[in-house]
Amino acid sequence: MMAEQGVLQIDAALQVIRCKAAVAWEIGKPLSIEEVEVAPPKTHEVRIKLVATGICRTDDHVLRGALEGIDFPVILGHEGAGIVESVGEGVTDFKPGDKVIPLCIPQCGKCSSCLSPKTNCCFKTHLKESQNVMPDKTTRFTCRGTPVYHFLWTSTFSEYTVVPEDAVAKIDPEAPMDKACLFGCGFSTGYGAAINTAKVEPGSRCAVFGLGGIGLSTVMGCKAAGASRIIGIDINSGKFTKAREFGATECINPQDYPKPIQEVLIEMTGGEGVDFSFECVGNIDTMKAALESCHLGYGTSVIVGEAPSAAQLSFSPLLLFTGRTWKGSIFGGWKSKESVPKLVSDYMANKFDVAGLVTHTFPFEKINEGFEVLRSGQSIRSILMF
Ligand code: APR
Ligand code: ZN
Ligand code: ZN
Repeated sequence: MMAEQGVLQIDAALQVIRCKAAVAWEIGKPLSIEEVEVAPPKTHEVRIKLVATGICRTDDHVLRGALEGIDFPVILGHEGAGIVESVGEGVTDFKPGDKVIPLCIPQCGKCSSCLSPKTNCCFKTHLKESQNVMPDKTTRFTCRGTPVYHFLWTSTFSEYTVVPEDAVAKIDPEAPMDKACLFGCGFSTGYGAAINTAKVEPGSRCAVFGLGGIGLSTVMGCKAAGASRIIGIDINSGKFTKAREFGATECINPQDYPKPIQEVLIEMTGGEGVDFSFECVGNIDTMKAALESCHLGYGTSVIVGEAPSAAQLSFSPLLLFTGRTWKGSIFGGWKSKESVPKLVSDYMANKFDVAGLVTHTFPFEKINEGFEVLRSGQSIRSILMF
């Protein structure tokens, strides 16, 4: 009977897939390439075959044990691009073959944050709901009989991953996947921090602390917004050439100065301070320095880097009392599901140089080499190809 055949075909498609993944078994250990089982997508879930993934400093933060609340063993990775392999019940927006980007900040479209134009911080983010397991509190990954946890609902360090439909965006099928993956975190996070969160104004003076993939994308955002000065700050002067290519007008290394870098920045701006500063390192000292670099009365400082979970800040409230604004930016303020496809289309229309962020490309199996070049400061973004 036709109907029964149809049902059988659907069931046959939704099998467990055995494939390769980079499993993080414990803090401080290299990733281990393993054969894992990836269960079929459940209701409102999508299974994706990854084509490319970037390595972001946040993945490294987890491996160093800097982020609390991550369960091990875990499959990390949150900057991927892939192709839908199968969909669970109730999924209507995606079909096998669609090109997609998993979203580390979901957009459920229903919570108070999603309904507000003021934020992209959906209540289903890891800040509110564990993304170490799927929404039904179970995992789709198993390795050698052990359940393996998800990370940010993306887990892109695997040939196949399963994500909730609220955490995936369909993109232009023509998009090159080895670049499109950077819209899953690095580019979107930095560029949006300048455009959406700070709302950098034409003619303004900006300071960007940290010139990795996120900081350089912030530099691109400041330039696109028409900033007149973009001062890049990094303790690794090797990052300055790229920063200038992306739009930094000056680059300074705090190690070249006998005084705190915020004092240097205030002097560089005629004693006034910058209009906008961005912390793209993830360090509480640079967060304070970025705030202190801001103009009295109206300077705005944006925290883009992720500090260790246990970190606490202390600072003079006078800095805020006298009118400065301190903000945070997660995923560049973009409402992910609706914005990522548009960002990819803008990239296809040559609006930004995402390709310039890629310094290394490795086959997926060489993932630990990708982490080594990140830790040694040689890379901006390494892309792993499946
Ligand atoms: N002052 C200035 N720059 C610094 C300092 C410092 N004290 N310490 C480190 N840096 C520079 C590094 O030399 C590097 O160039 O900050 C840059 C950080 O870049 P990456 O390590 O490539 O990290 P990235 O992927 O850009 O992420 C930056 O954003 O989302 C977060 O978790 C992420 O906290 C991380 C931050
Ligand atoms: Zn990231
Ligand atoms: Zn939501």
